[in-house]
Amino acid sequence: MAAGKNPSDSALAAIVSSPDFDGELSSLADRKRREVYSDEVYLRGLIEISSYCRNNCYYCGLRAGNANALRYRLSKDEILEVCKEGYGLGFRTFVLQGGEDPSFTDSFICDVVSSIKKLYPDCAVTLSIGERDYSSYKAFFDAGADRYLLRHETADEKHYRMLHPESMSLQKRKECLFALKEIGYQVGSGFMVGSPYQTVDNIVADLRFLQLLSPDMIGIGPFVSHWSTPFKDFENGSALLTVRLVSVLRLLFPHSLIPATTSLATIGEEYRKKALISGANVIMPNLTPLKVRKKYELYNRKLSSSLESAQAVEQIKAMLTDIGYRAASSRGDVKRPDN
Ligand code: 5AD
Ligand code: SF4
Repeated sequence: MAAGKNPSDSALAAIVSSPDFDGELSSLADRKRREVYSDEVYLRGLIEISSYCRNNCYYCGLRAGNANALRYRLSKDEILEVCKEGYGLGFRTFVLQGGEDPSFTDSFICDVVSSIKKLYPDCAVTLSIGERDYSSYKAFFDAGADRYLLRHETADEKHYRMLHPESMSLQKRKECLFALKEIGYQVGSGFMVGSPYQTVDNIVADLRFLQLLSPDMIGIGPFVSHWSTPFKDFENGSALLTVRLVSVLRLLFPHSLIPATTSLATIGEEYRKKALISGANVIMPNLTPLKVRKKYELYNRKLSSSLESAQAVEQIKAMLTDIGYRAASSRGDVKRPDN
């Protein structure tokens, strides 16, 4: 698969049909990422600000219907405290992620964002707090938010219905993504690999949707089952297929920021490195206060130690050097083809 070309649906389907590691595809993707982003890997400090969610996605441990979920939300002071620690550790992007917590009002989010930007003007703030009205997204942007992550999860209408209850809609999701782009955010989207009922054609549709959206960041990770959800008995997605798709994404979207995700490393630490040598150029270590970290359980056995932890930043840097990359100390904005 050559970079810059648009492969046919059947060519994409053929690549996605095989689950094994493809050394050639991986090298091709790595060459492309080095052309655009050299050997830099961008670190993002992930702050999980709330484990409350009003939604009921069937795959997620934070779903409102999960009575076993442990809930918490961070206060403004706690978030700022975490940013202080993260800044000291060298992070220049903070990702505020949470379920769709109705108690986070627009004014609360705006206040938190503008406070972070005032204290740390050299940092980027990324929000990942789900679907909101256009006016809310605009207010967050005006308060200083730089980026927004909202995975589309699956671009196929029928598949979307199998993963979400009637109260949610793919149409709404897509509208949110295009609104975010229009407002001026660096936008991230993505999907789960190996989610229940997913077909090869669904994945091809995901890639086509991403081509339509043209996002700046693309996050994909294997589905990992959670013990207290309707999908508890489904098998996890394939880590190697995820790595393979990371390479496909790098070749289709040479300028995008692609993380080696936590769910991938949850399947096995070695897959984090495999993703990095196969086109990924971002890692998002966890800065969430340890006292609540275990409560943010999207899926089983989410890592909360070792290389997953922001406090392990020196170890992370050593790992990157070891595999031929360099942790960047900049904000790590997207490089668009025209700049
Ligand atoms: N397995 C893998 N990823 C999941 N997410 C939610 N639940 C799971 C799961 N069981 C992902 C979704 C969401 C992101 C924050 O976490 O893609 O967008
Ligand atoms: Fe809520 Fe996001 Fe989990 Fe869906 S995936 S239940 S929106 S936290």
